[in-house]
Amino acid sequence: MIVTTKELFDQAYGRYAVGAYNINNLEQTVGLFRGNLGKATNEDRADPAASAPFIIQISRGARGYTDKRFLEAMIRAAEEVFPEAIFAVHLDHGTEEVCYDCIESGFYSSVMIDASHESFDENIEITRRVVERAHERGISVEAELGMLGGVEEDIAVSADHACLTDPDQAVEFVERSGCDSLAVAIGTSHGAYKFTGKQGLHFDRITAIQKRLPNYPLVMHGSSSVPKEWVDRINKSGGKLPGGASGVPEDQYLPAAKLGVCKVNIDTDGRLVWCAVYRETFRDKPEDFDPRTPGKPFMKAYAQYITHKNKMLGSAGQLERVRQALLTAKV
Ligand code: G3H
Ligand code: 13P
Ligand code: ZN
Repeated sequence: MIVTTKELFDQAYGRYAVGAYNINNLEQTVGLFRGNLGKATNEDRADPAASAPFIIQISRGARGYTDKRFLEAMIRAAEEVFPEAIFAVHLDHGTEEVCYDCIESGFYSSVMIDASHESFDENIEITRRVVERAHERGISVEAELGMLGGVEEDIAVSADHACLTDPDQAVEFVERSGCDSLAVAIGTSHGAYKFTGKQGLHFDRITAIQKRLPNYPLVMHGSSSVPKEWVDRINKSGGKLPGGASGVPEDQYLPAAKLGVCKVNIDTDGRLVWCAVYRETFRDKPEDFDPRTPGKPFMKAYAQYITHKNKMLGSAGQLERVRQALLTAKV
């Protein structure tokens, strides 16, 4: 069942965070749906204690990788194959034009307008226009204020230019733009190289934002944990990821969720799992050239990884409760 992010956040706020996972292909899609039902293969039964509501994210890069219609068709098929799943279909880092395309498509249940590189007033103005168009169709809108470091889509931001979200500006931004959730810069960055030392999330900043925006859903981009295990597996099977790869410590997800972070964006970790499994498979079976040979263990490993992630986010085991709440709200 496809729902809006707003419906998911109403249930999650202050208790757990909903995982927002990027997909680009069929194997990621299947692994993602299985993992959110707590099963690693199609033969396994769904595990209610591990089943979670989730957000499937599509970046502009993913839409252009083959054709956006393939992504839509895959997700529709997954909805039929996994009828128990409850999820939102979300545009990640949209421009104004791409947001309108997704809103008009009738398929996306939420969009992100990312005008965070514009001036404060321009960001509000663009976001407000998208909110008007999206709300006419019952679609939720995420916006971004502040500047994360790292590389996202075609924009690279150096650590020097990254800046944390100002809590007073956040209040004004939300009031004037009408956005349904706000991506805030609280110390994370996109990609596999987030921290050079023992840094982590700026909890003082999250606390200050929540104080000024109580009960308002916050979003954390750049939230991959970049597990050492997967980086090592890639490098042991022929990869050359430079040293210093590090991410958000997983034990910081729940404390952030208690402070109003409802959506945690994870893309890099999925790429690491993909890369390790594909490299290891062909290293160990050099005579093989069947796309299904790495695809099968990848779907299983990715599903297990998603289930693990949802446990760290606190969303594992929440699926049935969310279903009941949504049903009651519709009566
Ligand atoms: O924030 C960016 C996401 O990780 C999407 O990356 O544009 O390479 O698909 P992508
Ligand atoms: P990571 O690079 O940490 O996975 O962040 C992904 C993201 O923020 C997608 O919008
Ligand atoms: Zn992002």
